[in-house]
Amino acid sequence: MSIVDLQYAVTRLEQGDLVAFPTETVYGLGADAMNLMAIAKIYAAKKRPTDHPLIVHLPAGAPLTPWASHIPRMAEKLVEAFWPGPLTLILQKAEAVPTSVSGGQSTIALRSPAHPMAQALLRLFKNGQGGIVAPSANQFGRVSPTTAMHVRSEFPPEYEPVVYILEGEGSEVGIESTIVDLSRVDQGIGPVILRPGAVMPEHIADVLGQFPTTADKHAPRSSGRLAAHYAPSTRLYLLSRAEMQAYFEKNQALISANYGNPNFRKKKIAMVCMRSAPVVPWADDIEVAPPTPTAYAATLYSLLRRLDLLGYDEIIIERPPSTADWAAVNDRLSRAAAAFLD
Ligand code: TXA
Ligand code: MG
Repeated sequence: MSIVDLQYAVTRLEQGDLVAFPTETVYGLGADAMNLMAIAKIYAAKKRPTDHPLIVHLPAGAPLTPWASHIPRMAEKLVEAFWPGPLTLILQKAEAVPTSVSGGQSTIALRSPAHPMAQALLRLFKNGQGGIVAPSANQFGRVSPTTAMHVRSEFPPEYEPVVYILEGEGSEVGIESTIVDLSRVDQGIGPVILRPGAVMPEHIADVLGQFPTTADKHAPRSSGRLAAHYAPSTRLYLLSRAEMQAYFEKNQALISANYGNPNFRKKKIAMVCMRSAPVVPWADDIEVAPPTPTAYAATLYSLLRRLDLLGYDEIIIERPPSTADWAAVNDRLSRAAAAFLD
């Protein structure tokens, strides 16, 4: 990690520009959390609707008081147990924090990322007294980036006057942080999981002595909760093994029926299965997915991006098990597939 690059990144942030930097979850597109012009640049660069709130990133050990008006005991316990790490907390926002950070809401999202480069940047920025707002460094609605190369494809050279990209190690976790809402605990509501991630309900229960609930209709809005999100441009279907079998049989029948038809073009299909490939058919690419949720999450977004570039007509992904340990991966997969439900 080059200190020169980091210092340059800090200068750009202080000038109100954007800096893409690695975190352990995904790459973030950072801006000074107290600079309204810089925040506006994030929404513009990502083409993100301005009512979608941002997460403020803090150096490890930084006080939450400049950002949150009230810090419940549960927040202290979770910070102590999981920061720096892939956990975002929603608290009541402090007055001084611009409402454009929170998309107009009275709550604020806070996280301290574990990636060493993210921590180094946060320590240098305003001498560790500042906060960096950072959504995932992708165009709104697209697959989150886990390498600097992914970020460059989202923000090509014409963005250079606004966006500086820090080159770092890839994101180990591979999917976005778990979001836990603690903004209503004083009213007896919460903890509530707004977005599943690597920190799982049972981990939270171990620390708080109570299981978090999942989002209700009064929970704060969260764009990661939109049905269609994290989507590749290639049509993607999430199917059980039996559905996969049926899908291929239907295609096979179509191919047979069109034998000799010069106008018929066989679909190019990529398939990602959980175990070895089913004893069916042909697909133009067959991948066997990593067997554990952690390993699957770590490669999910690179896999989607790679398959997306290869010009397939369809990507068929075998649905992982529906057990709790797969919840975060299933969440991202179903959102990626939701864009193509017909
Ligand atoms: O792992 C992560 O969280 C990554 C890295 C870069 O830290 N960041 C990330 O940011 O995923 P973004 O903007 O792509 O997703 C942030 C999510 C959105 O779903 C947003 O709606 C939610 O956090 N969020 C932010 N502030 C909130 C608030 N005050 N209340 C409810 N949800 C909030
Ligand atoms: Mg995002």
